[in-house]
Amino acid sequence: MKENILICPICKNNLTQNLHSLSCNLRHCFDISKEGYINLLLVNQKKTNDPGDNKETVVARQNFLNKGYYFPLAKEISNITKVFCDSNSIILDAGCGTGFYLSNIDYGSQKIGIDISKHAIKIAAKKYQAIRFIVASIFNLPIKENSIDCILNIFAPKANDEFMRVLKHKGIIVEVIPGKLHLVELKKCLYNELHYNRTDVKKFDTQCISEHQLTYKQNIGHNDLIQLFDMTPYAFKTSQNDKEKLDKIDNMDITFDFIIKIWRKI
Ligand SMILES: C[S@@+](CC[C@H](N)C(=O)[O-])C[C@H]1O[C@@H](n2cnc3c(N)ncnc32)[C@H](O)[C@@H]1O
Ligand SMILES: [Zn+2]
Repeated sequence: MKENILICPICKNNLTQNLHSLSCNLRHCFDISKEGYINLLLVNQKKTNDPGDNKETVVARQNFLNKGYYFPLAKEISNITKVFCDSNSIILDAGCGTGFYLSNIDYGSQKIGIDISKHAIKIAAKKYQAIRFIVASIFNLPIKENSIDCILNIFAPKANDEFMRVLKHKGIIVEVIPGKLHLVELKKCLYNELHYNRTDVKKFDTQCISEHQLTYKQNIGHNDLIQLFDMTPYAFKTSQNDKEKLDKIDNMDITFDFIIKIWRKI
């Protein structure tokens, strides 16, 4: 029997599972969708009608990740969690997108993926039935305090206070951010002026126990290059003129550069 760690987003009481819904003792009730996910995002927690990544971005990311270019990173994350987690661990992916990294971890007593994008969660729930997927904001986690052993936070916003609240004592965060050279060739092709990724990003308010880099190159053909572009924020920031530069590219060697930090709650 899985430990019940979900709480009602309205009253914060425990949620219990019914056949097709979850409810609390104040009778707030949340349906389980036909794909198997639960929407625990309250209207007043949304800044827009359709928060998080939109459908086009999510589909592009799903297509690109399916091609395997990010498997070295998925393997690295799986290896790290293996060191810190065991078969009783509860693992939360905060900002999980389509669930790619969680699906590559094959231990832990519970795996939970949370994302504010219902498009991402719908795809994830359909594909990975053994993982619990929830639409919610990581800044209002519908999760009991001191209940999570490991949080994955991969290319996603950080919610320091909520992460510290839900993590167990000595629980860990595996954080991945883009390194300086991540996708540098794509940027060189698109823009006249090159800006390297900044890596001096906000820190979690706890102890960083390790930091290392994973860097490799892959040759990417035209169609996959377009999916890669469409899954990044560059898709919104780039002018039509600059975007058209990609039309002429048959294939390109692309650098993937990740910084992986491990934090421990003290
Ligand atoms: C760049 S994507 C990374 C997704 C996934 N971790 C991956 O690497 O495939 C960032 C994700 O954060 C989600 N996101 C943004 N703000 C969020 C919030 N407040 N709560 C939960 N998820 C959020 C987006 O919807 C999107 O899926
Ligand atoms: Zn309630």
